[in-house]
Amino acid sequence: MEKQRIKSADLAQPLHRRFLQEPNRTKNWGAIVEQYIIKGGIPLEGEVEIGGAKNAALAILAAANMTDETVYIENIPDVRDINAMLEAMEGIGTKVERVDRHTVKVNGAGLENCIVESESMKRIRASYYLLGALLGKYKKAQVPLPGGCNIGSRPIDQHLKGFKAMGAVTRIEHGFIIAEAEELHGAHIFLDMVSVGATINIMMAASMADGNTIIENAAKEPHVVDVANFLNSMGASIKGAGTDVIRIKGVKSLHRTEYSIIPDQIEAGTFMFAAAVTGGNVVLRNVIPKHLEATSAKLLELGCEVHEYDDAVRVISHGRLQNTHVKTMPYPGFPTDMQPQIAVSLALAEGTSIVTESIFENRFRYVDELARMGASVKVEGNVAVISGVEKFTGARVSAPDLRAGAALVIAGLAAEGITIVDDIYYIERGYENLDQKLRALGAQIEKVASEKEIQKFKLKVG
Ligand code: UD1
Repeated sequence: MEKQRIKSADLAQPLHRRFLQEPNRTKNWGAIVEQYIIKGGIPLEGEVEIGGAKNAALAILAAANMTDETVYIENIPDVRDINAMLEAMEGIGTKVERVDRHTVKVNGAGLENCIVESESMKRIRASYYLLGALLGKYKKAQVPLPGGCNIGSRPIDQHLKGFKAMGAVTRIEHGFIIAEAEELHGAHIFLDMVSVGATINIMMAASMADGNTIIENAAKEPHVVDVANFLNSMGASIKGAGTDVIRIKGVKSLHRTEYSIIPDQIEAGTFMFAAAVTGGNVVLRNVIPKHLEATSAKLLELGCEVHEYDDAVRVISHGRLQNTHVKTMPYPGFPTDMQPQIAVSLALAEGTSIVTESIFENRFRYVDELARMGASVKVEGNVAVISGVEKFTGARVSAPDLRAGAALVIAGLAAEGITIVDDIYYIERGYENLDQKLRALGAQIEKVASEKEIQKFKLKVG
């Protein structure tokens, strides 16, 4: 099918943005056991507004600590990982003011120490961003070893290699990473592999080091560029973000800024595949189509239509999908964070598909759950061979991690009958109001917390 470009004026008015004040929900982390219950089989139709990019926001919030002046940040998604980061920042003395649900003011002037002890930080991968930010500004930082999704061993040797090249000493003690430098200086750093986290972390520290830093084999992901733009708006001097060589000239201090986070390409892609598997017709608003090109290209191969507008994308799916092959790669390749979502779609496609995961070694843990719904997938090492089936049947499944959890929701939307997805706190780490957004597209999905609520849903949907 042909990919078309149409002006956004051709679309209806943007969805109304909701700015609801909500209490900090991280304090309830894991306290309520909730599930999604889904009655599948309804084609998704309508418009959905995509939120700010979680992975950009995590790094940008950390970087906001690098000035004593107040930083104003918009388009922050209200998800668990972000709230954990904000809580950790308050824990070290940063002043965080929620202007509304998606906007915060951050002031790091009152930062009391560089020891991040927040319990919730152990659970999120991006806790390491405070390491680069604090090391850059204060020349010392102590952060819990990162947690995050269980999708394989996730070393941070490249981050530490970068810090060491800049003159820092690093060690691990009692579950913390400690980085200190008498003087942080510029360095020429070759990353052994393309790492988003290491690129951003080194970029942050180097922004306030003495002299020039060059990062070779840098990650080119949109959120690397977003963090560079944010730092530059604070007075940093970063050139080349978005290419594989980034050049940073250290500055003495950073200043106030106002900044809006880019749209979340993974949330967008998740809705694109949800439209594809349900035979839907969905417009995604507040996206940057360029960032979605790898996903759009695969949807075309699957037989969908993809229409690109200035800041929106429409996906139209006409029934059964076609098989294809996909290999995850660093940007601009197909993102590993979209691998479970495309695999679910291919599991319903005609013919056999091959999915190769080249970034993380343990990212097929959802396959056993999907098998409970009737999928036929054989995993060998980092390759999944998928024989498409005509339909899934609803089952009780458990989200093994953030993106795989979202993929199981997609599977439930396409399945015949009722699907229950357990452990949705993983999904809530990165998706804001997933159930509400899907309901607005016509899906029958509810968040439930008891057997009684499950029965009520079943009675309602018949
Ligand atoms: C980020 C994203 C995550 C995404 C991933 C790849 C955040 C918070 N998370 O994770 O959602 O799936 O990029 O796009 O932004 N590696 C090392 N040593 C290092 C660093 C990385 O061996 O020091 C390896 C990793 O194990 C992995 C690969 O490099 O195999 C890429 O990892 P990286 O890009 O660093 O991922 P994260 O930044 O952790």
